[in-house]
Amino acid sequence: MRRPLVAGNWKMNGSKEASSALLKGILAGADAAVSDIAVCPPAILIPLAAEKLAGSKVAWGGQNLNANESGAFTGEISGGMLKDYGCTYVLVGHSERRTLYGEDDALVAQKFGVAQQAGLMPILCIGEILQERESGNTEAVVARQLDAVLDTHGIGAFENSVIAYEPVWAIGTGKTATPEQAQDVHRFIREKLAALSDGIASDLRILYGGSMNGGNANELISQDDIDGGLIGGASLKADEFLKICNAAA
Ligand code: PGA
Repeated sequence: MRRPLVAGNWKMNGSKEASSALLKGILAGADAAVSDIAVCPPAILIPLAAEKLAGSKVAWGGQNLNANESGAFTGEISGGMLKDYGCTYVLVGHSERRTLYGEDDALVAQKFGVAQQAGLMPILCIGEILQERESGNTEAVVARQLDAVLDTHGIGAFENSVIAYEPVWAIGTGKTATPEQAQDVHRFIREKLAALSDGIASDLRILYGGSMNGGNANELISQDDIDGGLIGGASLKADEFLKICNAAA
């Protein structure tokens, strides 16, 4: 049985004070929550998260990592550094990284491997933009994004990973995929991987992301192949985030 995971992606939001309050609010409801929980704060706030969350049920992770282990990469952060601060997870290939920072499938695949080498669990983000959906190319895009990782690392690498299906047109827009639209893509992802390994595909957690909130989480997470959520905006309010963690029944 797959245990649901709800992960918060804070993006570039927060301060020491606001983040302390947010973490405190999340911790207050975490033990009672039905899902596994993780938060991905901006890198500079990871030590704060590590301090506040140590010994709790809430895990933490990075939003990005460099594809190299160390060296002359000014401004960058390595998987080893995230691991050093107790991160369990790291987002890889978030659509904002792909679109705003030019990360292509090959780089995302490289980062996926480097994350695992550092002992982190990558949360691989995939999803189509609006034109791709409207032109009927959603499955082709998602398959291409998966193939980049499969071709480089093989199906075995998915044993230690999470996938987040995030239709780009639904991220931060208030437009959510319908539960049926999301389930169709989640099923497609699982079936594609099941063709290579049934066991790995059936244990793999596939999260939905894109304007998930306390009001729509239940309907989405109750779909057969939706195993939790990757939450942006709604992860910045403890009550709202905890509602999603409790939707994952
Ligand atoms: P959103 O962001 O929940 O604000 O749509 C999701 C994400 O970017 O992971």
